[in-house]
Amino acid sequence: MPFNLNRYLLGLSMAIDCVENELLGATSNHGRRVALVAMRLARAMGMNDAQVFDCAALAILHDNGLAQENLTRPDQQRDRLLQVEDMPAHCEIGETNVSRFPFQGDTFETILLHHENWDGSGFFGVEGEAIPWMAQVIALADYTDLKLNLGEARPGKREQVLKFLQARRGLHFSPALVELFTEISAPTSFWLDLRDPFLDVALNRTMPELAIEADWQEILEISRVFSRIIDSKSRFTHSHSSGLEEKTARMAGYLGADPTTILQLRIAAALHDVGKLAMPNAILDKPGKLDDAERARMMEHTYFTRKCLEGIPGLEQITEWASNHHEKLNGAGYPLRLPGEELDIWSRLLTVLDIYQALTEERPYRQSLTHRQTMEILYRLVAEGEVDPGLVKAVDRAFA
Ligand SMILES: [Fe+2]
Ligand SMILES: [Fe+2]
Ligand SMILES: [Fe+2]
Ligand SMILES: [Fe+2]
Repeated sequence: MPFNLNRYLLGLSMAIDCVENELLGATSNHGRRVALVAMRLARAMGMNDAQVFDCAALAILHDNGLAQENLTRPDQQRDRLLQVEDMPAHCEIGETNVSRFPFQGDTFETILLHHENWDGSGFFGVEGEAIPWMAQVIALADYTDLKLNLGEARPGKREQVLKFLQARRGLHFSPALVELFTEISAPTSFWLDLRDPFLDVALNRTMPELAIEADWQEILEISRVFSRIIDSKSRFTHSHSSGLEEKTARMAGYLGADPTTILQLRIAAALHDVGKLAMPNAILDKPGKLDDAERARMMEHTYFTRKCLEGIPGLEQITEWASNHHEKLNGAGYPLRLPGEELDIWSRLLTVLDIYQALTEERPYRQSLTHRQTMEILYRLVAEGEVDPGLVKAVDRAFA
């Protein structure tokens, strides 16, 4: 079936951007601005649609390796956090994470080399034209936006940016690329497009339409690129999405779902917590129970999951399953407080299995629970009218 990879990428870019926002203090929409500038540079270099698309995808994903737990700490101090970017590890992890993404052409080592400098003074000492062109383009957009926020409405913004680039011409960046940026940034519209209210429309207009032929198995593979990023955000959830995906497939098969539904449910499970990328690690990794404010913040994550997925054509049903995993049969769930009648069997199953998966994982404030201990809690939730009794019994039988 035709699958719109653009809408998929742009939807998930919202969550990816939150990671860099938290860790590096990049202003929101950073990755999306990097993508817009990178695409404009690629176009001006005469690249074709497929190359422009790949460049945009990599720009959105450029710092995906930052989510890796061993790089992140619940520490909000900006100085310390900026050092995270000084670690070559996020380039290596990021390169590996995206290796399964269906790029159109050769994108090898773009993410690995996105911190190289023209004069060879970067992480890996690669210099000049030996740095892949996409890595050069992304590096220029990334570094400039991180330091100066290209979306900021401020008189003299272009002059400030050009001065910054001139000072790094031939050192950080290739002289030709700095010239090209100077050219493409001349129209007023270039700067207006980068501002928050206009960014989405500009991205949609600039990104080449890319409807790939993909079956559900392939969409699942692409979704696992993101579930790996989600799981790596906290050491306590390192196998949460993948574990839920496995259990969901097992239970759906046990309950007689057809193969297509099982694949769609796997995708929903892989992406169900994508909204957690928007949650601070200070909350995710807190070594104790959350206070009211933190719990309220945490409850926003399924709203973000819905925001990321709901604009992707073909994923309507998957969006519901993924975003409803904290809704309850008695209408006391979040974020929509849907009544039980509006929760189909697969939404209900994901809710039960998400609880099962979470309880059998270690948390900062408790050990992992056994199957029996987990089932006791699930039966209590049945008694409180929160989760489906038949499904809880089925899970007990299947996983005992
Ligand atoms: Fe980076
Ligand atoms: Fe960045
Ligand atoms: Fe969740
Ligand atoms: Fe979850």
